[in-house]
Amino acid sequence: MSDLCKISFPGTDYPPINLQLHQNLSEHLTIQNSPVLFGCRTGICGTCLVEVIGKIPPPQPDEQEMLDTLAPNNCNARLACQIDITGNLEIRVLRQ
Ligand code: FES
Repeated sequence: MSDLCKISFPGTDYPPINLQLHQNLSEHLTIQNSPVLFGCRTGICGTCLVEVIGKIPPPQPDEQEMLDTLAPNNCNARLACQIDITGNLEIRVLRQ
């Protein structure tokens, strides 16, 4: 049995995407149409800043440092390229 996680984009016309646990989010959001844009994919450019609702592990220190700079007052802010998919996610793009 495979566990599928639903990645949805509330407030947009983009359809939800179903991914397996721990699949690479940035890769799949690029292949399938999504509102999230990516640059470096290594957590340093900030292009993929999003707000995420869902059960995922907390940011690693490097990601947290970026988030403290880019979205200091948003505890749901994440870098989409650094997310480990461990459950259903609702993603909203944060414009800088
Ligand atoms: S794509 Fe550069 S930080 Fe995520």
